[in-house]
Amino acid sequence: MKKAIIIGATSGIGKELVKLLIDNDYKLGLTGLHTNGIEELRQNNQKQLEVRYFDCTKESSAERITELVASLGGLDLLIFSAGIGHLNGNPGFEVENHANKLNVMAFTEIADWSYRFFEKQGKGHFVAISSIAGLRGYRVSPAYHAAKSYQIRYLEALKQKAYRSGKSICITDIRPGFVETEMSVGKKQFWVTSKEKAAEQIFRLIKRKKGMGYISRRWQIIAIIMKLLPRWIHRRI
Ligand SMILES: NC(=O)c1ccc[n+]([C@@H]2O[C@H](COP(=O)([O-])OP(=O)(O)OC[C@H]3O[C@@H](n4cnc5c(N)ncnc54)[C@H](OP(=O)(O)O)[C@@H]3O)[C@@H](O)[C@H]2O)c1
Repeated sequence: MKKAIIIGATSGIGKELVKLLIDNDYKLGLTGLHTNGIEELRQNNQKQLEVRYFDCTKESSAERITELVASLGGLDLLIFSAGIGHLNGNPGFEVENHANKLNVMAFTEIADWSYRFFEKQGKGHFVAISSIAGLRGYRVSPAYHAAKSYQIRYLEALKQKAYRSGKSICITDIRPGFVETEMSVGKKQFWVTSKEKAAEQIFRLIKRKKGMGYISRRWQIIAIIMKLLPRWIHRRI
């Protein structure tokens, strides 16, 4: 039985991935903040699921994940799906810095821990859900776009390390456009993907060990436009 951990499994995309991994016979370690998200799933799949509730911005994620790995009896796949995205309107340092503690600091702690664990083990797969937001800055939520940009570059560096290590370590960067979850409520949206479809597409990318993928696939068109957009036009948007 393969073993996986999902950080941010109590709602949204992470929770949908839990359902898919259960169906695909994974033993799972799950983390989240609030206890009401996956209790029903836990009750119905007690042998397959270990759940830990903790705040990645306050506790040592590395310690909690190490404990989870011991309970699972190993680790093949770690998915980082936790994120804070309610930053529209540039809400100021305190709120932005709290989000940075998860989107940047905890992300770094967990990505670094995962890479080192898999390097020592000689194999493994680390997946993080960044965002298409990381491709350019945007005045409506500067900290969110900057944090996602940080994640994308960090994952790019890990891919280089993995390649040079010669070991069977895979790094996957998932870049969603808009997915219908709590995080996206109240935002102006288009090309919205359901969380079920998003999880299916993500799982397909994981199985194929892809380095990167847009969710849904047609967001690749927006990605190309965003990358090509001249600075003088971008400044006026
Ligand atoms: N939804 C979109 O449109 C969209 C688009 C692009 C990228 N993304 C990215 O996709 C990822 C998943 O997003 P989602 O839409 O599924 O969001 P979500 O439904 O809000 O889920 C976020 C998850 O992160 C957990 N979390 C939040 N703060 C935490 C903390 N301090 N410590 C530990 N866990 C914490 C939440 O736990 P609780 O549920 O227990 O609070 C939840 O499990 C995020 O990184 C997001 O930036 C989403």
